[in-house]
Amino acid sequence: MGFRDDFLWGGATAANQCEGAYDVDGRGLANVDLCPVGEDRVAVITGRKKMFDFDDDHFYPAKESIDMYHRYKEDIALFAEMGFKVYRFSIGWTRIFPKGDEEKPNEAGLKFYEDLIDECLKYKIEPLITITHFDFPMHLIHEYGGWRNRKVVDFYQNLVRAIFTRFKGKVKYYLTFNEINVILAAPFMGAGLYFEEGEDIEKTMYQAIHHEFLASAYATKIAHEIDPEIKVGCMLNSGTIYPATSNPADIFEAQKTARDNFFFTDVQVRGYYPTYKIKELERKGILPEISEEDKKILRENPVDFVSISYYTTKTVSADKDIKLSESNLQVTVDNPYLERTEWGWQVDPLGFRTTINEIYDRYQKPIFVVENGLGAVDKADENGYVDDDYRIDFLRDHIKAMKDAVELDGADVIGYTTWGPIDLVSASTGEMSKRYGFIYVDRDDYGKGSLKRTKKKSFDWYKKVIKSNGEDLD
Ligand code: BG6
Repeated sequence: MGFRDDFLWGGATAANQCEGAYDVDGRGLANVDLCPVGEDRVAVITGRKKMFDFDDDHFYPAKESIDMYHRYKEDIALFAEMGFKVYRFSIGWTRIFPKGDEEKPNEAGLKFYEDLIDECLKYKIEPLITITHFDFPMHLIHEYGGWRNRKVVDFYQNLVRAIFTRFKGKVKYYLTFNEINVILAAPFMGAGLYFEEGEDIEKTMYQAIHHEFLASAYATKIAHEIDPEIKVGCMLNSGTIYPATSNPADIFEAQKTARDNFFFTDVQVRGYYPTYKIKELERKGILPEISEEDKKILRENPVDFVSISYYTTKTVSADKDIKLSESNLQVTVDNPYLERTEWGWQVDPLGFRTTINEIYDRYQKPIFVVENGLGAVDKADENGYVDDDYRIDFLRDHIKAMKDAVELDGADVIGYTTWGPIDLVSASTGEMSKRYGFIYVDRDDYGKGSLKRTKKKSFDWYKKVIKSNGEDLD
């Protein structure tokens, strides 16, 4: 009973949120570098404000982040001390193809990730690679307009071919796109899309999504050809959608909203467009161009497993005048049964169990939970120690709920990586002060601090959780 013996416990990061070194060893400029901290961030990440170069009025946290590029050995040693079985990290596309459309990869970029992988393997930590975690080369935005352009599918294939070939035999788990559905909420950060005046935004968005589906299916095909041991997963920003009331109109609204998310995994897991989406896009006149060859590639190359991030659930209503508030880059109706984090995200451990069950019932594929965690303000003492019982409580409740989904409901969950095992830059706000880690990093929202790493109280707690394979959660 409990979690399987080979359950993969660990943590997850993303290149742009931790590496820094944005212009080192030939790395090219990426969309994620240009997302500033502060009030303009949301307009930039959603593609409403054009930020194609740095300016003097903003601070760009990804330029230096927590400098993991130069400190990864120290950081991985700390992960190993916690007993990590897996470390999920992402590839900075522009480290390997600085512009995106070159024929040959940048050796320094490949070498960096190979060294990082070897460092994990030294501690018997399984690397889990996200091929793109919001990263997109700026050159491809200037020249091709981001994922709206079909040529990008070819450039992505070059990227994955370089990666799978170089890391063959060392890496078993890959995810093609982090939170592929986030393109709907943050199209510039999620897919390098900036919209021109008068453009049909929804149409462009669904064309770009189709290209990402193709890229993901080709990646799966190439991975299996190069190394049949590789398992490729999709990645969904998940969370069950609740109706605000039992009014059938609210129930229907909840189903509609859920489908907007499941559309992504339906295509990636089943290999074809679901009829509900085809009908909707046809009605709106924005069904992307899908050739017979596209259909074949999608159908022949579904993913091997489903991965999810889970932070919160969402509540919707058919009443358009109802009050909404923000939670995880989306808007939700206030759920009176749920508490909220300092950033307003609704906390819902039982919703985690519901979400896992819903996804397992739908697909019957192994589920990898690759993100979950609490973003909170931490107060470090003079030694850098943080007494973060609130984080322990949050994670304990969520791990318990995941355990119930496994033990009581029979879901096949193969691993769990907490988001940001080391403090890093927040994706939605660009802040450092929104901390998720077991390891504190001395750095503030505007780049001040020594970058020194220290262990928080949760460090030893998570170590115990891993050692007991999720049995000892006290
Ligand atoms: C997920 C992303 O949406 O949530 C991460 O994959 C992100 O990149 C994480 O950091 C937490 O969100 P935030 O905005 O608190 O950093």
